[in-house]
Amino acid sequence: MLWVDVSSQNKPEELHVSCLVGRLCVLPCTLPSSALQCLQWFKQDSLILNLSSELQPQPAPSDPLSGRATLSRADLSRGNASLLVRDSAPRDRGRYRCRVKTAAGDQDQDVIVKVQAPIRSLSVELSRLSGYEEVKCSVRHVFPPPRVTWSTEPPTFQDLRPLTRKQLEDSGLYAVESRLRTMGQGERVYVCTATSPYGGESWSASYRHRDVRGVEGADLTLPCFSPSFLNARTLSWTFSHSNSSSHILTYRVDSGEATSAPEWSGHAELDGYRVQLGDGSLRLMDTSEKHTGRYSCVFSSDRNSHTERLEVTVTGTGKHSSPEQPSYWWLVGLLVGLLVLTLVVLLVYNKIRGGLSKPKSDAEEATELHPVKGADSTPSTGGSNEPSTLS
Ligand SMILES: *[C@@H]1O[C@H](CO)[C@@H](O)[C@H](O)[C@H]1NC(C)=O
Repeated sequence: MLWVDVSSQNKPEELHVSCLVGRLCVLPCTLPSSALQCLQWFKQDSLILNLSSELQPQPAPSDPLSGRATLSRADLSRGNASLLVRDSAPRDRGRYRCRVKTAAGDQDQDVIVKVQAPIRSLSVELSRLSGYEEVKCSVRHVFPPPRVTWSTEPPTFQDLRPLTRKQLEDSGLYAVESRLRTMGQGERVYVCTATSPYGGESWSASYRHRDVRGVEGADLTLPCFSPSFLNARTLSWTFSHSNSSSHILTYRVDSGEATSAPEWSGHAELDGYRVQLGDGSLRLMDTSEKHTGRYSCVFSSDRNSHTERLEVTVTGTGKHSSPEQPSYWWLVGLLVGLLVLTLVVLLVYNKIRGGLSKPKSDAEEATELHPVKGADSTPSTGGSNEPSTLS
């Protein structure tokens, strides 16, 4: 029972009661102080229980609650004729009447019962089942079915046209699924909000997809930021690769406590202070190709959650594999090779040419080595050695 509200109108008296599915529901009724002759409980017009003056409750043959309703003998002796209904179900909703017969006359008290199965969790995931990329938001085991709305962050002027389906489960509760086609590129946050028509706080689940590329051997930061409205209590990171998934770490904002899986400790790092500011980015140290895969970062509070999914690709440094980088380096190598070859060819050519003109330079050297001889033949024309040779 959530709340009881007395709205005293002329007659009969009318109370509103809200009950939870599966729980005990108490429908209030008070007995007058005058001697009781008879007490009856009805649902709409069907009799549920009949209590004679001997205080011996008699279940009605066509009891609409099929024996789930009782009266407490202890309560009755205190003048409390509340009906106790076990294992409440959505079909128990409706108007009930407590009729008290005394010598002074009949007195009716009406109770309007609401039954609800509140939202316990709301989930989002990416779906490609329809051939389009969609964000799917779902909630199960709820009653009444909530209203689901969508928004994006940053906001868009585009008309969001989600497809929402309500399905009645065997239990009489609902499963609601809403799909929204994503708007192409851009790392947009899709926010799904579910609100019960009975009021109360709404739930939200948001989603963002990112592609991240890294190079083997370097550190890599995996970005993850919660939307502004979410006041997260926990952050958790998981990694999945070819159908197997592993927990990386969980950080509790209030206690500042982090628990990380042994195989990831020393390889992944988180700044707890930044998590409180909505930045849950994870730093991977000394990455290798085995870090390629899908990472999930989930911020959560009581009624809100934000999921970021990162498709991470870690490629080699260029010495092996990876199709783009090696071809580029190969081209550079080829150009350098050609340049070196050209230089060598030029040097060799010059060398050969130099070799051919060698006798001439030898002759010159010879004349320099024997200046006396030359002095006879030609008078000086200003060489620095000439004066000394003359003197
Ligand atoms: C009557 O009994 C019900 C069930 O035990 C209890 O919840 C309720 O508070 C009682 N009402 C009063 C007025 O004592």
